[in-house]
Amino acid sequence: MEAIVLYPAPNMGHLISMVELAQLILLHHHHPSNSLLSVHILITSPPIDLGSPSPYIASVSATTPSIIFHHLPDPSPPLQPASFPSMEALVFEHINLTTPQVQTTLLSISLSSSIRAFVIDGFCTAALEVGTSLQIPTYYFFTSGASCLALFLYIPTLHKNTTKSFKDLNTHLHVPGLPPIPSSHMPEPTLDRTKEQHSWFLNFATRLPKSAGIIVNTFNSLEPNALKAISDGLCVQDGHTPPIFCVGPVIKSSDQSAGGQAECLKWLDSQPRGSVVYLCFGSLGTFSKEQLKEIAVGLEKSGQRFLWVVRSPPMKEQSQQLLSQSEEDPDLDSLLPESFLDRTREKGLVVKKWAPQVLVLSHDAVGSFVTHCGWNSVLEAICAGVPMVAWPLYAEQRFNKILLVEQLKLALPMNESEGGLVSAAEVERRVREIMESEEGNSVREQVLAKRQEAMAATSEQGSSRAALAKFMESAKR
Ligand SMILES: *[C@@H]1O[C@H](CO)[C@@H](O)[C@H](O)[C@H]1NC(C)=O
Ligand SMILES: *[C@@H]1O[C@H](CO)[C@@H](O)[C@H](O)[C@H]1NC(C)=O
Ligand SMILES: *[C@@H]1O[C@H](CO)[C@@H](O)[C@H](O)[C@H]1NC(C)=O
Repeated sequence: MEAIVLYPAPNMGHLISMVELAQLILLHHHHPSNSLLSVHILITSPPIDLGSPSPYIASVSATTPSIIFHHLPDPSPPLQPASFPSMEALVFEHINLTTPQVQTTLLSISLSSSIRAFVIDGFCTAALEVGTSLQIPTYYFFTSGASCLALFLYIPTLHKNTTKSFKDLNTHLHVPGLPPIPSSHMPEPTLDRTKEQHSWFLNFATRLPKSAGIIVNTFNSLEPNALKAISDGLCVQDGHTPPIFCVGPVIKSSDQSAGGQAECLKWLDSQPRGSVVYLCFGSLGTFSKEQLKEIAVGLEKSGQRFLWVVRSPPMKEQSQQLLSQSEEDPDLDSLLPESFLDRTREKGLVVKKWAPQVLVLSHDAVGSFVTHCGWNSVLEAICAGVPMVAWPLYAEQRFNKILLVEQLKLALPMNESEGGLVSAAEVERRVREIMESEEGNSVREQVLAKRQEAMAATSEQGSSRAALAKFMESAKR
């Protein structure tokens, strides 16, 4: 019996990508002449609400018995969220303290199976040494794109070149294979070097090249410049660049839980083809009440049809991505302008908290997507051929915006004004632009071309399948 062990970060987005990767591995391996292979997934749950994975895990276990989940025991005593400066710092510390359980679990799996590979998320860097000390080839699964990988591989070089924090540099950073990046648009946890999460991310960036290889959720022809720079060895300045496997796009294959929420799909059925702007900002993206009003006014004035997923504003003045509150349903009447819902009844639908995004994006009626630029959302839009308006909120999303707008031409920008607010006039203008203008059309054509390339890459003979085969070959022991 052979095994591959995966260790995802404890949030739904990263977990789903890992599970989809597991499905791909099993599909690839499925051949009568091959030995039996199971994929083991390690689950850890820091004491904050990053989405409850239990129903999802139960449904995967029920349909795919060769995927086996292991719930790692929590460190004791459990960590106190209030004593951490950010969600990232808490997650890193929790994972660090869980390292002994990872070792125990790997050893117990290896009693019955030969472990071919251990694949970890960036947040699980603490486990890299466990894998290598047990002489298991240990890989990263990088859940953002190759351009973001180029950036991370180059961060130690950028870091050494200055004593200032990126947030205070006020310049453009030049990274091989990438367009110039305004230093303020670097991934949020790397902005301030006095913060705890900064040293965690720097450690991650330094460890990446020490792995047996990096599996990336992209496909070769999506980000050729970054991939070339990485494979030419330009991004790792003082060491060797490990093999890179572009196996994507790896996206959620279906929304199993769509049933109860089918209302918005029914509504889309009644809308003209390509007429609807879809707005959704991920599972952690929230706006202030003031910003929600600006969006509402802008949408109404644009005259476009829209499907808008609205979440409650953050409870306290916490930073965006900190402890995601056990969320109440938003009270639309108090959050949106007076009788907005009545006036827009013919043209728009507002849904609370969540929509089955893969199904929505692939619906004929959807013509554009206003997105926070989370990488899973970007890949889902590309696979559905839907042009984007980039409105980044946290993590590496500002960087993704630069990439999507300046280099890949898959999105139009949403422009913030000084205080970080996006005005109603800007929302109106951009939404019209993506739906009706020349610029909007050329973005649409570019996305459709990338959609074709994504389908080719993931077809039987495609580059992503070949990369997966190469990974499996390299993990043969
Ligand atoms: C993570 O854990 C290791 C040992 O398990 C320890 O040496 C290291 O200092 C920890 N890192 C942090 C930042 O706490
Ligand atoms: C280092 O900083 C200098 C001055 O800010 C800049 O000109 C140069 O391009 C930087 N080098 C790297 C590798 O980023
Ligand atoms: C975006 O806003 C900035 C000011 O915040 C302005 O200088 C720039 O011209 C705007 N860009 C576009 C395309 O409107």
